[in-house]
Formats: sequence, structure tokens, C-alpha cells
Amino acid sequence: MPGKIHTEAEWAEFGKEHVTHGLGRLRDHVMVKGRGAELWTSEEKRFLDFTSGIGVVNLGHCHPAITAAVTQQADSLVHMQCSIAFSAPYLQLIEHLLPVMPHPSLDSFFFWNSGSEAVEAAVKVARKYTGRQNIITMQGSYHGRTYGSAALTKSKTIYSQNTGPMMSGVITTPFPYWHSLGVSPSTSEEELCRMAFHQLDLVLKQQTAPSDTAAIIIEPVQGEGGYVPCPPKFLHYLREVCDKHSILLIIDEVQTGFYRTGKYFAIQHSGVRPDLMIFAKGIANGFPISGIVGSKKVMNCMPVGSMGGTYAGNPVCCAAGVAAQEVYKTGHIAENVAERSAEMRSVLESLAKSSKTSHLIIDTRILGLMGAIEFRSPSSPLTMEGISQNQNVPKDIGKRVQKCCLDKGMLILTTSCFDTIRFIPPLIISEKEMEEGMSIFRDAVETVAKEG
Ligand SMILES: Cc1ncc(COP(=O)(O)O)c(C=O)c1O
Repeated sequence: MPGKIHTEAEWAEFGKEHVTHGLGRLRDHVMVKGRGAELWTSEEKRFLDFTSGIGVVNLGHCHPAITAAVTQQADSLVHMQCSIAFSAPYLQLIEHLLPVMPHPSLDSFFFWNSGSEAVEAAVKVARKYTGRQNIITMQGSYHGRTYGSAALTKSKTIYSQNTGPMMSGVITTPFPYWHSLGVSPSTSEEELCRMAFHQLDLVLKQQTAPSDTAAIIIEPVQGEGGYVPCPPKFLHYLREVCDKHSILLIIDEVQTGFYRTGKYFAIQHSGVRPDLMIFAKGIANGFPISGIVGSKKVMNCMPVGSMGGTYAGNPVCCAAGVAAQEVYKTGHIAENVAERSAEMRSVLESLAKSSKTSHLIIDTRILGLMGAIEFRSPSSPLTMEGISQNQNVPKDIGKRVQKCCLDKGMLILTTSCFDTIRFIPPLIISEKEMEEGMSIFRDAVETVAKEG
């Protein structure tokens, strides 16, 4: 009966019956409260959150400044459809974003609701501006689950399996990641870039002529593909190729934006200029708003009225976005990211070197507070040398480590089709919370190593 008080177990049964099974879940808890890096269930079980709701609550759950801004906005104007008139928070958000753009040419914005929608908007702009059809995407990329964005997603087949045909005009090229290129994890960055450049040259000669190619889309750190930072050298090369052939470079910052990697946007580690940039997640710390930005010349190619959406750029979400930018600018976020990142790195690297656990680990990667540890896996498609090394390792190490962490009250996610665990704590996580999380994680890896 509506309104009846249920136990958590009863709610879980109800949810399992009435929420579609296509939606996976880590646990069947009912979360009722979040503060900073902590979450509580309806039965008052506490979790330390190393997921940030998949990279969304960068400033922690229920940041007081954002809650206050949202409450105030909800009391004055909740909905202002963006094709009818501006709202003040919509314009204030742009005013805040303009000075932090990775390049001054990025000065024309369009807000949407989700990352996937923004990706599709960027594709439309790129096709219209260039008058060309094809989009080059990276092996291992993730750009969303809607038809257009799923067509650009190459991290796992699950997002498109049995639901095709997808959007046409998508061509895939290898990302400079050793899995993508089928080489050993010890391959140098220089060599990975050389091989990935070569493959892209072939793509432009054999699969899509530059004159048919509208854009190249790339995440500066692959997210669902395994938390793999893109070497700056590769991004510079993409910029050169795009300039040479008048192709647009689309940088997808949905997961990497808003200090996640230590800079406002991850592309700033390279200094490369995007033609179009996509953002979402951290922009409003949990309120659903995304967007694209480009130069006026590129963005204004779209006919008046061709862009828009009922809820796009909702004033309450924009007010949350404004409050979040104010905190990003004054909150010493970059400092905390650098300090906590170094602590995380030292634990991951010590596990990779320890005689108790090193045999399980094949790679560790970290940029800011986007960290990953990749475990050996018997099914990992490595070099012949790698395959024989992987024969004797236990199966599903990541899933087992994750279960130990969950059982000890830490939420943590796996990522990619390889055996990888990713770390995305809120950027405001304290030293004590980082120590607690990494100690739970270290114990979990040691437990799995002992069990074999
Ligand atoms: C890099 C990237 N692009 C696009 C998306 C899709 O965003 P959304 O889930 O909001 O549609 C995601 C989501 O994780 C992402 O990480």
C-alpha cells in the first residue's frame, strides 16, 4: 500500500520485481542520506563512497552551498523552458564557465540533461558544420547508451548487443593503450603513441577519407574503458591531424571535468584546444545538466530552433551548477586532489610491488582522483608471454576484491571488459577517509591473494 513503511529487505524485493532488470546494481540497499564521502542506508548502515555516484558528486554528497542554492531557486523559479526565454541561473552558469574554459575560443554553450544527449548534440553540430558524415571514435571509448552515443561507445558490447543497427558513420581507431594495440603493458608511451598514430593514418587512408570525416571524438582519460589517461603527445597529434584536414576535435570531459583529474578539465594537462567540448557529471554535483561548448563560428552553424529540449538547462540544475562553480573556484579542490591522489598512488604502487600481491596485478594508473588497478586475468588478450603468465592466476580478482570492500562498508566500482577496479572518491575526501578506504582496499587484495 503506498506510504507503508517497509523494511530494507521488503523494499529490495519490491525493487527487484518492479525495476527493469536491464538496470544492473551493485547492492540492493536503499540509500537515504549522503554527506561528503559517506552514505547511509535506510537501516543506518554506513558506506564510505569511493564511487561519487560514478564521478558526479565531486564536492561530496549534499554540499551545503549547493543545497542552499537549489532550495532558494526552487522557491523562485523551477522551470523555464529554454526556447521560451532565458533564466538567470542559465546565464550565470555560462558567466562562471567562460573564464575556466581550456581555450578562449570556447564561448558558445548549449545545455542538455545527460552526457549522452550532449554527445549526440556535438555529433550533430560537427556534421552540420563540416557537411561531412563520419565520426572517428577510439577503441575502448565510452560516450553513453542512447543510440547515437552507444554507436560511439566501444568499451563493451553490452551497450549495443542485439539492439542494432546503431547510428551509421562511425569508425574506430585504437587508443594508445596496450590492450587496444595488443602489446605488452610495459610498452613505452612513446611506442604506444607511434602505433596509435600509424593506425589513425591507416583509418584516414583506408576507411574514411578526411573529406568524409566530420570529427574525432576522444576522452582525455578513458573512463569505462579502464581509467586510461591519454598521453598528451597523442592529443597533440590529433590536433595536428584535425587542423590539417579541417576535422573537428571533440573532447568528451563528461567524467574527467571539474577537477576530477586535478585540473578544471583534463584536456588542460596537454594544452590542446578542443573544437567542441562535452561536459556533465561534476558540473552541478548531482543535478542533471550537461552541455557542449564550441566557438560561435562552429556552434552557430545550427539553424535557429534546431537545438533545445523540454528540460534542457533547467534553472534549478543551473543554480546548482553556479553554486558548484563557486565552490570549485574557492575551495582549494586542486590541492586536496593532489594530496589525496599521492596517497592513493602510494598504496596502489606498494600493492603492485609487494611480494604478497604483485603476482595479481598487471597495471596501476592514476591521474588526480581517477585511479585504477588492473588485475591479471586468464582471459586477458595479451602477448604470448602475457598469456602464459596469466594461466595460473585466480579468476575474477576484481569482483572478489570489490565484494570484500563492499562487505566492509566501502562502495567501489569495477570498470572495462578487463579485470579493473576504479577509484573515484569525492574530491573533498579527507586524509582520514582516504586512509580508511585504501586500508580496506589493501586488506581486500591481500585476502584474495591468500585465498588464491
Ligand atoms: C566520458 C563519458 N561520456 C558520456 C557519458 C554518458 O553520460 P550519461 O550517463 O549522463 O548519459 C559518460 C557516462 O559515464 C561518460 O563517462
